[in-house]
Amino acid sequence: MAIERITQATPQADDADEQEFELKIRPHDFENYIGQERIKKNLQLAITAAKKREDVLDHVLLYGPPGLGKTTMAMVIAHEMGAQIRITSGPAIERAGDLASILTNLQDGDILFIDEIHRLHRSIEEVLYSAMEDYKLDIMLGKGPSARSLRLDLPKFTLIGATTRTGALAAPLRDRFGHIHRLEFYTPDEVQQIIARAAGILGVKIDAPAALRLAERSRLTPRIANRLLKRVRDYADVNGDGIVDTDISTKALALLEIDELGLDPADRMILVSIIDNYAGGPVGIETIAAMTAEERSTIEDFIEPYLLQIGLLERTPRGRKVTPKAYGHLHKKHKPDPREKLL
Ligand SMILES: Nc1ncnc2c1ncn2[C@@H]1O[C@H](COP(=O)(O)OP(=O)(O)OP(=O)(O)O)[C@@H](O)[C@H]1O
Ligand SMILES: [Mg+2]
Repeated sequence: MAIERITQATPQADDADEQEFELKIRPHDFENYIGQERIKKNLQLAITAAKKREDVLDHVLLYGPPGLGKTTMAMVIAHEMGAQIRITSGPAIERAGDLASILTNLQDGDILFIDEIHRLHRSIEEVLYSAMEDYKLDIMLGKGPSARSLRLDLPKFTLIGATTRTGALAAPLRDRFGHIHRLEFYTPDEVQQIIARAAGILGVKIDAPAALRLAERSRLTPRIANRLLKRVRDYADVNGDGIVDTDISTKALALLEIDELGLDPADRMILVSIIDNYAGGPVGIETIAAMTAEERSTIEDFIEPYLLQIGLLERTPRGRKVTPKAYGHLHKKHKPDPREKLL
């Protein structure tokens, strides 16, 4: 198993402290949910309209890299609709019967949140089709020639699905969502606001330049920002007077080996191995995974989106390629591919 990294955007599930912390700082309404303005505007409009019609909201699919606020957004939607939310996840639903029992236990107007919906088994996914479209549940009774199918009415509900990859969703499922939103990376300014808000709730004294420094190194991701805030607070408590300023945050980040762009040693290793072994690429994702002993899915879902976002890595039809910006950042000499000059 890969070691847990401070900059890993997935929640550290076995960390009870982190769970309690999340409960405290998770925003509950649109007003406190910072950023993602376009999505908020669209959803606010849809929610107001649904409430006016006294109807449920259309099904919502949220996708994007881990830690950007999909679960939080689902809870905000429930809060704004004044609806009850039932939370489950793709891997937790093992049989079609599990899903059937969840669906039949819903009440009118409820929201069903399925996290990691791309990990639902195909045969279970199909149960969702009629549930989402007609609020009906088809179940088979018996086997063989005497089998009969039974159609049950379901309450009117809203499904909110979250996934790190839409590509993994079958088209018939994807098409049944009325709202499909891709969560974007946050701007450093937004992350700074998120840090200031969390610091306020936790009673951490942090000055504006230090908040900005943390924001710049948080991979533009709220979950990482909040986690770094906790680590620098610890550092300030032990090595200072509890106040987080630029000096304290710089030292704490150096101790965590997080550089100016928010890269940790594993990110740097990926870039360096492509440079050293493949002259900067292009190189296939499987090769990168083998070279660095990272899971392919870890690279695709978590490491790569940020490296692409800040322009250190490029996707080409022949694989991933390190950009000149990455050479500069890593102080590596860039030898341009002689073939490129011919083009
Ligand atoms: N827009 C935001 N404003 C303030 N805090 C936020 C925002 N989005 C997320 N957070 C905080 O970041 C943390 C991670 O958010 P969340 O759990 O919703 O991410 P996620 O996208 O569901 O991640 P995953 O894909 O790993 O499930 C939470 O602690 C939440 O409080
Ligand atoms: Mg989540």
